[in-house]
Amino acid sequence: MKPMFTPAEIRKDFPIFAKTMRGGNRLVYLDSGATSQKPISVLNAEREFYELHNAAVHRGAHLLAEEASSAYEGARETLAKFLNAEVDEVVFTKSATESINAIAYSFGNSAPGSKFALKAGDRIVLSELEHHANLIPWQQLAKRTGAEIVWFPIDTEGRLDLSKTDELITNRTKIVALTHQSNVLGTIVPIAKLVEAAHAVGALFILDACQSAPHFQIDVKELDVDFLAFSGHKALGPTGVGILWGRLEYLNEMEPFLTGGSMIESVTMTEATWAPAPKRFEAGVPNMAQAVGLAAAVNYLDSLGMANVALHEKELTSYALKKFSDLDGVNVIGPKNNIDRGAVISFEIAGIHPHDVGQVLDQYGIAVRTGHHCAWPLMKKLGLVGTTRASFYVYNDESDVDALISGISEAKKYFKV
Ligand code: ALA
Repeated sequence: MKPMFTPAEIRKDFPIFAKTMRGGNRLVYLDSGATSQKPISVLNAEREFYELHNAAVHRGAHLLAEEASSAYEGARETLAKFLNAEVDEVVFTKSATESINAIAYSFGNSAPGSKFALKAGDRIVLSELEHHANLIPWQQLAKRTGAEIVWFPIDTEGRLDLSKTDELITNRTKIVALTHQSNVLGTIVPIAKLVEAAHAVGALFILDACQSAPHFQIDVKELDVDFLAFSGHKALGPTGVGILWGRLEYLNEMEPFLTGGSMIESVTMTEATWAPAPKRFEAGVPNMAQAVGLAAAVNYLDSLGMANVALHEKELTSYALKKFSDLDGVNVIGPKNNIDRGAVISFEIAGIHPHDVGQVLDQYGIAVRTGHHCAWPLMKKLGLVGTTRASFYVYNDESDVDALISGISEAKKYFKV
């Protein structure tokens, strides 16, 4: 099956691709793993919200408040459909980082003995692939509760060593929190068996879907995880909005993370009780325009079809991996084949620091990410100070890969390696 869209046509929907880059070059944007570009429909949705409907949602009896509330709640419905979730299970946060912190802090605020409370000796299972956002909140929770962090090691290709499952996920395990797709290596973690193993011992499974939800179909019912987080800005949406999805029965039992207006059921001078989800986790006037923008982004992705998005990225990754395999002195870090792997290619060029590679590529209008990618323990495990990372999305095509490959050759010439 051929993908049903043409990246060159898609680029016309994204104003930023009309920009002229350094040296008069076109923009070759290969940094969508960090943040994606935004189509005009997303920019218009945010602008229209402020121009025509701006008011604080869920407060006020006037027309604008009614329109703003309906746009905001409509955005929630769109996101719920995108994830195959129940509407009240979708919480708008400011970022995926906030979503994961919200879970960790909520668990930390739980009364001893509750399903969510941790105590000394309990285990939190992570992996060496984790981004700092799915590592540090758990480290902090472990410090506050006396729980222990254990983790799946990776093999030489950057895949989880699943032979350790029974050793790591035991009766002591309370939380398993894993990335769905490594932001550094592109490794897709086959979570089905791990979710089963977690549930078999009564543990909760939290999925960091930052690098998966924008790129392939997510169905929370099918995945059977308990919580999931992703950020809007990596999925063609605005910054300042993230998604926290959780099973409704859990969200409604959990302690809030932030407290204040709108998240209460009743308040006295000394006490308060909490509204049910999602309000319980949305204290204060929320990021309304951003939520509406994210819904427009999801509609854009839906119009392409997530299966087509995934297929397009798969084909482009195969093309790029083949091109990389023909390059001398360039080493792809992570899976070298295209099995269980997303459209992210980290690499090192012998004798050139990643930041220098990034600067040379920039001279040709090519934007990549360089450094440790907020995954410092992974870098240490790999024995690297950092990598250069190209990450692809719906607006990239083979001409972008060709530009990258030729930019790499220029870098090698420049540094005489
Ligand atoms: N987490 C983002 C990345 O991987 C910022 O680049």
